[in-house]
Amino acid sequence: MAMTIGILTSGGDAPGMNAAIRAATRAAIARGFKVIGIRRGYQGLIEGDMYELNARDVSDILHRGGTMLCTARSEAFRTDEGLAKAKRNCENAGIDVLIVIGGDGTYRGALDLSRLGVKCIGIPGTIDNDIVCTEYTIGYDTAQNTALEMLDKLKDTEMSHNRCSVVEVMGRRAGHIGVNVAAATGAIDCLTVEVPYDLDEICDKIVVQKNAGKTHFELIVCEGVVSKDFTSEDIAEYITKKTGVTARATVLGHVQRGGSPTCYDRVMALKLGYYAVELAANGYKNRIVAVKNNKLVDYDIDEALNMQKGYDEKLHSVLRVLSI
Ligand code: F6P
Repeated sequence: MAMTIGILTSGGDAPGMNAAIRAATRAAIARGFKVIGIRRGYQGLIEGDMYELNARDVSDILHRGGTMLCTARSEAFRTDEGLAKAKRNCENAGIDVLIVIGGDGTYRGALDLSRLGVKCIGIPGTIDNDIVCTEYTIGYDTAQNTALEMLDKLKDTEMSHNRCSVVEVMGRRAGHIGVNVAAATGAIDCLTVEVPYDLDEICDKIVVQKNAGKTHFELIVCEGVVSKDFTSEDIAEYITKKTGVTARATVLGHVQRGGSPTCYDRVMALKLGYYAVELAANGYKNRIVAVKNNKLVDYDIDEALNMQKGYDEKLHSVLRVLSI
């Protein structure tokens, strides 16, 4: 049966979203379906900002970061009026299934829409890898590698100056990027909300290592632990005072969201995008595509939003043991 598939990206962009748009679009066209691309996520859906996509419209995007459909965090979509408009525009465009690419907030939006009768399928796309139902989210691998590249550059300068780099990485409330790059760069520790830390103990460790001849240090700070009263700058100042090693803070920020997706992200995006269309074609609705034990699975949106995600505490403790 011919169908019309709507596609949007919502929330923070992530490298590989384009690859997912391409995969879903072409998988749908290959089945004889019509595809409607919606610009600027749910905001665009409310405003009816959409156009038909053909196979050529998604050429040359596989290797590009960002999202060709643009994205937004829509306040209007949180209102009953906004939701009703979004539903109406789906009906007017004849959208049978709406594929949404994004994070938890995007899925909550999909859940709200599905309660109004719009059939939705979610694809996990966020650099944070914090979507509870899936082991992997599109963009995570690229973002980690971008952060690591920056850390390697910082290492050059901190070695030359015998300093400590305090590097803040993204991840909203989650420390997945942080713990991995901390392990990969040999940081002294990673401050994250998932695992208790003691800044004084870290300072003592720095002093012991300095006295034993170590000349440079990195401390990773996940954005979830900082606030306006406790910034990465404050942490760097504290370390400088307590250890005598000059510390400098660097907030990596949105650079982590950009760049060409890695091979892993492209292939993952392709698989997830293709699978989402298969689900739609087979009559499934209100599902989230996910990765479990490295295989593609899908969950009911409601169920997916209520799952718990683990944090790699083992990796965290190993990096602490190795940073001697
Ligand atoms: O969810 C992705 C993310 O980059 C988070 O790591 C970060 O907390 C947030 O988005 C930043 O959002 P914005 O782009 O709206 O500043």
